[in-house]
Amino acid sequence: MARKTDPIGVFDSGVGGISVLRELVKLMPDENYLYYGDSANAPYGDRPTEQVRELTLRVAEDLIGRGVKALVVACNTATSAAVSLMRQTWPDLIVVGIEPALKPAVDRFPTGRIGIMATQVTLREDKLAHLLERFPQAAVSRIPAPGLVELVEQGHTQGPEVEGLLEGVLAPYRGKLDALVLGCTHYPFVKEAVSHILGPGTLLFDGGEGTARQTRRCLEAAELLNPGPGSVQIENSLGRSDILQLSMELLGR
Ligand code: DGL
Repeated sequence: MARKTDPIGVFDSGVGGISVLRELVKLMPDENYLYYGDSANAPYGDRPTEQVRELTLRVAEDLIGRGVKALVVACNTATSAAVSLMRQTWPDLIVVGIEPALKPAVDRFPTGRIGIMATQVTLREDKLAHLLERFPQAAVSRIPAPGLVELVEQGHTQGPEVEGLLEGVLAPYRGKLDALVLGCTHYPFVKEAVSHILGPGTLLFDGGEGTARQTRRCLEAAELLNPGPGSVQIENSLGRSDILQLSMELLGR
């Protein structure tokens, strides 16, 4: 039986999910969080779907074994590949999976030109195709950004390498998009560089805040909100101090 004081497990292939943890802590500072980044196996986004599924289930199993009251999949790639299977495997657990923030982008620009930048897995899986079917009126471009997750994992969120990679990916879209959906949780950390390249005419959307709100709704409905005080614990499969340090910096601590 889950208790209010049990932690919320938050999981990503690496440090990207910290962009979601940040929103969770902002919205629910009284919760206890157990964040797990699987940087030893990142990036997930270039792997076969079956492998992403296995990696995700393994981490989820471990977090569940440690008594989390809810699991937030703070990784679009893992959500695309494994969230249905997770819900089947643990039907009684609260499982919240992030997905690209297409809805707020379409609400803002109902017939607009919208780009979704995400990993190969997210862009090719059925989950995105189903999401797109809900918004037939929007003209959506799928934009892969190979190498960007690796840069963020190395702690590069600005500077010539990030700008150079983004210029290569986004230059063809300059002046052609009303909105860009950041469909990978690593990407909000390079938001400034993205804006710099696309200019102020393109609004950026990401799913972090929506995921935090959805998590709160689920906990509220289950009467599992913690009265406080809250805490944050960060772990990483690399087990190195530099990656934990980077995680704390990205969290803003
Ligand atoms: N942060 C993950 C996402 O939201 C993916 C990064 C990776 O490829 O491992 O999709």
